[in-house]
Amino acid sequence: MTQNFKPNLVGYLCNWCSYAGADLAGSTKLEVKPFLSVIRVMCSSRVNSNLVLSALLWGADGVLVAGCHPGDCHYEQGNYYARRRFALLKKILESLDLEPERIQLSWISASEGKRYAEVVNEFSDKIMRLGPSPFETNPKI
Ligand code: FES
Repeated sequence: MTQNFKPNLVGYLCNWCSYAGADLAGSTKLEVKPFLSVIRVMCSSRVNSNLVLSALLWGADGVLVAGCHPGDCHYEQGNYYARRRFALLKKILESLDLEPERIQLSWISASEGKRYAEVVNEFSDKIMRLGPSPFETNPKI
């Protein structure tokens, strides 16, 4: 873990489940690491590849996308599209010599405030172990 490294993380949270889960984590005063900048989207499927790659190119050290559990998406198939897109995105990151672990897709429901805290804390720890994104100083695109 890089000493004193405070990761810059972007979190795209689906409005119906994960954002509400984040809200619950906050209202129940769970401890959540403070590195994630949250952007509310209507569905995880709304987060196209460009939004993830742009965040990384603009200096994010990691990107978390969180949505409803499979079968619970309010737009029926949205999170399945997101899951397929993520598999491709990880391969794109590998081709750019960027660790695929810098992006993560998680399912968090509105009642899972504790899970939200765990996911964010674990993702923060993982990115802290990886260190700063090489794109910060050496963009390859
Ligand atoms: S509405 Fe939550 S993932 Fe689609």
